[in-house]
Amino acid sequence: MLFPNFRRIDTHCAIITGAASGIGRELAKRLLENDIAALYLVDRDLPGLLSLKEEFPNFSRRIQIQDIDITLKEAPDAIAKNAAIFFKKDSMPPVVLFNCAGVVRDAFAVKVTLEDIKSIFEVNAFAPFLLATACVREIWKGKSEVNRGAIVNITSVSPALHLFGQSAYAASKAALANLTLQLAAECSRKGIVVNAVAPGFVKTPMTKNLSDKYLEALATAIPNGELLCTPGDIVNALIIAAFMPFFNAQTITVDNGLTAIGLSTMHQAMLSK
Ligand SMILES: NC(=O)c1ccc[n+]([C@@H]2O[C@H](COP(=O)([O-])OP(=O)(O)OC[C@H]3O[C@@H](n4cnc5c(N)ncnc54)[C@H](O)[C@@H]3O)[C@@H](O)[C@H]2O)c1
Repeated sequence: MLFPNFRRIDTHCAIITGAASGIGRELAKRLLENDIAALYLVDRDLPGLLSLKEEFPNFSRRIQIQDIDITLKEAPDAIAKNAAIFFKKDSMPPVVLFNCAGVVRDAFAVKVTLEDIKSIFEVNAFAPFLLATACVREIWKGKSEVNRGAIVNITSVSPALHLFGQSAYAASKAALANLTLQLAAECSRKGIVVNAVAPGFVKTPMTKNLSDKYLEALATAIPNGELLCTPGDIVNALIIAAFMPFFNAQTITVDNGLTAIGLSTMHQAMLSK
């Protein structure tokens, strides 16, 4: 066995937001392929959720979908309550909340409107915050010494890169990164670990409008020139963040070295010209 002391996926249930597309969708598939006990899938894209469920006809009783905009006032409590009812059998199994839903809308800081800032923060920071706390109230009541699950937030390398046009997005993800640590401090005594995964650039619908020229320029900062990873590469880190023992209050960056050594790579390329 490659990871002998990992927590068993088949004893856990999971909630995934943003499950209809990209990373969240790939995560749902991986968890089902590894026999997760039950999955509560959330997205505002109903056809996407239905097509995902249809891909796993033998698991239909283990999957429940909720088509909802996570920024609605009633969404966090509704998701947490319905998921608790769906998961609970004799006693609540350990549950992992994966906050994957996110939006990006690039614009120079001076042109971003308050409305834009609010709508980006509502999805990327407020909704994960409120859903995590709703789950603490509904699913993880009371204190516990034993493993009762995890919260895993998808943040981004954006706050470390300061790319033009990403001020609102980067600020929202920086807020989520900090929330990860705050929640870890408060939830660990309840038997819940809280971690984050910070992707670089991932081939999903979110990045499909980025021009080849832009991507090629950014790829020069990567030591081996490979900028775009697959959703599956991010899912690997999400699994570690949720199921690896002794892993708490951490962020796994999956960006092929872009943030840590990107500038150095570009510098070296300049020197060798
Ligand atoms: N793709 C990348 O390069 C990249 C890089 C860094 C971080 N991320 C982060 O990874 C996460 C997943 O992104 P992705 O690339 O899979 O994007 P994606 O666009 O493929 O998927 C995002 C999903 O979130 C859902 N969603 C958005 N707003 C919602 C709302 N208000 N209510 C309910 N559902 C909503 C969408 O319907 C969609 O299914 C996001 O948080 C994103 O910010 C992505």
